[in-house]
Amino acid sequence: MLRDGRLCHGGDYNPEQWPAATWREDVDLMRRARVNLVTVGVFAWSRLEPAPGRYDFGWLDEVLDLLHDGGIRVALATPTASPPPWFSLAHPDALPVTADGVRLHHGSRDTYCAAAPAYRAAARGIAATLAARYAHHPAVALWHVHNEYGTTCHCPHTEAAFRRWLIDRHGDLDTLNAAWATSFWSQHYADWAYVSTPRATQYLGNPGQLLDFRRFWSDTLLAAYVEQRDLLKAANPAIPVTTNYVLGDWVPVDHARWAAEVDVVAVDHYPWAVDGGAEEQTALAADLARGWARHGRRRTGGPHPNPATPQRADAPATWLLMESAASQIHTTGRSHTKEPGRMARHSLSHVARGSRGAMFFQWRAPAGGAERFHSALVPHTGADSRVFRESVQLGETLDRLAEVTAGEVAASVALAWDAASGWALRHPGMPSELLDGQAEVAAAHRALWRAGYGCDVVLPGDPLDRYRLLVLPALYLASDATADWVRAHVEAGGHLLVSYLSGVADPHARIRLGGYPGAYRDLLGLRVEEFHPLAADEQVLLSGGGTGRIWSETVHPCGAETVCAYVGGVLDGRPAVTRHRAGAGTTWYLSTRPDDGTYRRLVTEAARAAGVQPVCPDAPPGVEAVRRANPETSWLFLLNHTDRPQRVPVEGVDLLTGVPADGAVTLPAGGTAVIREHPR
Ligand code: GLA
Repeated sequence: MLRDGRLCHGGDYNPEQWPAATWREDVDLMRRARVNLVTVGVFAWSRLEPAPGRYDFGWLDEVLDLLHDGGIRVALATPTASPPPWFSLAHPDALPVTADGVRLHHGSRDTYCAAAPAYRAAARGIAATLAARYAHHPAVALWHVHNEYGTTCHCPHTEAAFRRWLIDRHGDLDTLNAAWATSFWSQHYADWAYVSTPRATQYLGNPGQLLDFRRFWSDTLLAAYVEQRDLLKAANPAIPVTTNYVLGDWVPVDHARWAAEVDVVAVDHYPWAVDGGAEEQTALAADLARGWARHGRRRTGGPHPNPATPQRADAPATWLLMESAASQIHTTGRSHTKEPGRMARHSLSHVARGSRGAMFFQWRAPAGGAERFHSALVPHTGADSRVFRESVQLGETLDRLAEVTAGEVAASVALAWDAASGWALRHPGMPSELLDGQAEVAAAHRALWRAGYGCDVVLPGDPLDRYRLLVLPALYLASDATADWVRAHVEAGGHLLVSYLSGVADPHARIRLGGYPGAYRDLLGLRVEEFHPLAADEQVLLSGGGTGRIWSETVHPCGAETVCAYVGGVLDGRPAVTRHRAGAGTTWYLSTRPDDGTYRRLVTEAARAAGVQPVCPDAPPGVEAVRRANPETSWLFLLNHTDRPQRVPVEGVDLLTGVPADGAVTLPAGGTAVIREHPR
């Protein structure tokens, strides 16, 4: 990407929204902010091809040359996330259809069906045309295919493609009928032609069908990406190719599975919580991205690659924060302006966890258009602004930190993540509508983060030999292979912490019978007989002083000891959290969602029992510590999220100031330090 070894700084740049005079000012300002990579052309299709087959590349030629002359590299985008008006008019069958049969219209973005042949052909067409023209342009450092593959569709093209996918996956109708449990409610399929996408239904839809549709659609979007990637690679194999994705359902894909197909895992992250929540969400997003990126890495000499997410032989384990907001947190219904210093802390939280830089949406705030009030490195006010000054500061900071790319984050705690489990927990007919797989992952991660432990995100099947503690946060689906993977970890002396609903269902979301959680009962030394989901405003008391929310259960210990019990109600005195000796390790079970303080105490106990140390045991509360290291050197990132100065005992040199920290460093309120540590 950037062969000069620098960390990337920059963002989405939309010269098509500005007159040529502004382009020159942009390049000057970019140089002031030490911007070295900008994404160009993401939504520019209607300006590149204003009418079918009539191209206008003059402006892009000029912009790429200007950027190149200014020493700024380009992530050149294919503009396929926003087809132009002529395309939608000519191909109404390529407009997406919602589950209840409404065909959407041109006028926003992402309005296309990824299974429609006309859309796929047009997307290949513009990608190939761009490749032919720019694949050897010296400014182009990276291809940025599309933008956040964020649609879903139920049109006839999709339906036909879904059937083909199902035939590939299930082979015959008996297998499909068994997987979807179609004997229930007269849904048995005697012909493939009877099978449709999960459209709007009178009452609850079929969980197996919904789950397969999510898998199918992720694969369909991936195929749309792959065919563009292959065209771009064919034009110049030396230029890496990526597409940016984002957490949550906006991009409805299995991110980890995609990692094997990109040269750089590129993530966009926009936290939506304000008080402390934004920092926790940032840490989780970065840990997820690093976990996904591991599936794009060639593991030379490493043990067993994960067959579910194969690694490409030539892919580096690089990931990059491709978009973030310069000065905005999107809370529900309003945007919160990031306080001074917060943008830098979020950026460094990503770099600390392995990002090759910190990029933003967007370079310059537009005067019009739907996102006219979205923040930007150059805000509406112009360069004489706090945000631009902070971006100049960040550019200097990133340049001082180039050496940290030699280090990797090393964690002893593994947090399991599985897209399909999250999808399945959202299915209709679950015992509670409060179930949210992503929130369970976030709660476990938050507990570890607040307790000061680093963690790696792993997928079922990943090697676990370097982890002392494995955490399964509501990992609902478990294949036999997943159950064996967890068992092997425990049998090898590893410790395990499992939260409710993990291992309850098989990969088709059918329940594993005989008492919950079917996949892990014996490892945990218990059997769960009944669920007692809680109301949104309800909490249960736990012995020892904590509370539980969302969920509770009748747990029968079969060897496990009670760590804390329910107090009051129908479960009074029964186990809420248990601990069990299994092999040389300990397994823990959480039958409710503990409050944050209790969760933090529990993971601390579990980590201590497993012999895991916090990253920086002496860091005061509110100071986040992340370490990157290699056998020779280590770098300790310290992020002070409090509004007071904080002193942290360290030995080394602060790369941000160049000042030796002999014994301690004092972080200003909201400030940061990156210590190259003395060898210990
Ligand atoms: C996404 C998109 C951008 C922009 C931002 C706004 O990440 O990729 O085009 O819409 O969201 O937050």
